[in-house]
Amino acid sequence: MTVLRIDSSARFEGSNSRQITDYLVERLGQEVVSRDLAATPPPSISAEDLLAVHGSSSDQRDSLSAHLALSEQYITEVKSADTLVFGVSMYNFTVPAVLKQWVDYVLRVGHTFQYGANGPQGLSGVKRAFIVTATGGTPVGGDMDFASGYLELILKVIGVEQVFHIDASGSKGEPEKIIAAAQQQIDQLLD
Ligand SMILES: Cc1cc2nc3c(=O)[nH]c(=O)nc-3n(C[C@H](O)[C@H](O)[C@H](O)COP(=O)(O)O)c2cc1C
Repeated sequence: MTVLRIDSSARFEGSNSRQITDYLVERLGQEVVSRDLAATPPPSISAEDLLAVHGSSSDQRDSLSAHLALSEQYITEVKSADTLVFGVSMYNFTVPAVLKQWVDYVLRVGHTFQYGANGPQGLSGVKRAFIVTATGGTPVGGDMDFASGYLELILKVIGVEQVFHIDASGSKGEPEKIIAAAQQQIDQLLD
């Protein structure tokens, strides 16, 4: 029963999403594995290697082996968890680029999902995920939010059974209020 915590805010101090994921993992009270995508960003990938990772190519070139190894590592972290916790900062109406890169490493046919008669079937075995979305002012779940719904779709594709959203919008206002409101949402979900 492990929690995989995935943070992506470029702020290491004063980040609302990080403060809220701190609180959430503490409340969950399970063993936590942390994957900080801002502290250790996925490397850039050539077009050729991206296509080969996506297709699970068996080519032996060194650059591709390194990308496939990282993909395996990320996928193992996901499959070893029963709960995923995402700290997502909205950047230009969507997820941080490092989180999109993580998605490109994790969504692989035959590894985390497969195509069935009714579309993609997830293979992750993960029970639940919490998505904490921090924004400056863009409403979470509204028409301009291409972050939280996008990530929920990705998690559904890999078969995460339940996805819960924590709204941390409006950080241009008073961060303390946003964090307190998010903590309240977490308490309501977990109590
Ligand atoms: C590059 C960049 C782009 C941003 N784009 C948006 C945006 O599209 N909409 C929005 O409401 N806030 C935007 N913001 C503000 C952040 O979403 C907000 O500061 C949020 O609290 C960041 O998460 P954090 O507090 O965990 O660092 C942006 C901030 C940065 C640095």
